[in-house]
Order: sequence, then structure tokens, then C-alpha cells
Amino acid sequence: MKVLAINGSSRKDGNTAIAINAVLEELKKNGIETEMIQLAGKVINPCKACFTCGGKKNCSFQNDEFVEIYQKMKEADGILLGSPVYTADISSNMKAILDRAAVVGDMNPGLLKHKVGAAVIVARRGGALNAFDTLNHFFLVQEMIVPGSNYWNMLYGKIPGDVLKDEEGLANMKNLGENIAYVLKKIKKQ
Ligand SMILES: Cc1cc2nc3c(=O)[nH]c(=O)nc-3n(C[C@H](O)[C@H](O)[C@H](O)COP(=O)(O)O)c2cc1C
Repeated sequence: MKVLAINGSSRKDGNTAIAINAVLEELKKNGIETEMIQLAGKVINPCKACFTCGGKKNCSFQNDEFVEIYQKMKEADGILLGSPVYTADISSNMKAILDRAAVVGDMNPGLLKHKVGAAVIVARRGGALNAFDTLNHFFLVQEMIVPGSNYWNMLYGKIPGDVLKDEEGLANMKNLGENIAYVLKKIKKQ
């Protein structure tokens, strides 16, 4: 079993990476393989709305790393999306991934169906719930299964490392990891 995490921050190893790693640690304790892709330093181009991906099961454009990332999303049992809040929503790199993946999914239904999906958000102050909703909208329209935690999955911090002071948020990440592992094990048993 494998969970692929995508970090939408422009900052490598920043607060969003810390949040994601807090979830991945729990998954690893449960024997689940993990991988994190960090989008920092990469540019994911927006969807061209060409709708030529029907039958291809991936995007028609190979001018960036989207095709490789989407291939890994298809192969994973679970997908953890993490984003910092940028202007009250997710980062533009993460949005480009969601737009393109959603159109590929539209044109080739069921590619992510029944995978487990979870979102984590980091904010300095405002917009976390909105960004969280954006990521969850993607999972739900892909027919994915979305486990929750004991709060909405968000951490607060500005400077890298700040989120380590958010004890409640970190406890929520740990619990989220346990819940993802629980659901994955139930699904995979069948
Ligand atoms: C372009 C940009 C826009 C941002 N907009 C918001 C915002 O609307 N609300 C907020 O609370 N924080 C905002 N932030 C702050 C980041 O969410 C915060 O610093 C976060 O910890 C960054 O996570 P990272 O270390 O993973 O990059 C913004 C940061 C950047 C770079």
C-alpha cells in the first residue's frame, strides 16, 4: 500500500512539508509506503482546455512534470494533498494539478475512484477552511474516499518551523494519519 503526498508550497521543506510529514509518519508506523513530491522550484502549467486526453488516461502535454505526477497519483492507493494558503485559497501550482487531473478524470472516468484522499492546509492567519474545501472538492468529484480527523486538517504558521508550535494542529495530523491507515486497511482487505 502506498500514499503519495504532493506539497503545493513554493517553499521546499517549509511548514506544509512539516504538516505532510506529520501525517506520513503515522502511515509509515502502520506499514504504509509513502512518497512526497514537493512542487517548489517546479512550474505546473495550467490546463489548456484542449480535451484531447480522452482515452489517453493522462494529460496530452508533457511540457512539465504533470504527466509523471499524475501517473504516480494513479498508481497510489491514497493521495495526500498539502497546500499553504495563498491569497485565501490553495497555491496556483496545486490548482494547476487539480484542474488538469480533473479534466483527465472527466475524459477517462474512474481513474482515481475508491482511492483514499486527504487534504492538509497551512495558513498564517486566514483562508484555511476555504483552501481545505478546494482540495476536498477535488477528491469528492473523483469518487475518492475522504477520511476526516478530529478537526479540519489545518496548521498555523508563517516562518518555516512555526507549525511545530501548533500542538493542536500536529495532534490533528497524527490522528488523520491513523484514520487514513484505518480506511486503507479496510479497503485493501476486501
Ligand atoms: C503568495 C502568498 C500568499 C499568501 N496568502 C496567505 C493568505 O491569504 N492567508 C494566510 O493565512 N497566509 C497566507 N500566506 C502565508 C503562508 O500560507 C504561510 O507562510 C505558510 O506557513 C507557508 O507555508 P510553507 O512554509 O509550506 O510555504 C501567503 C504566502 C504567500 C507566499
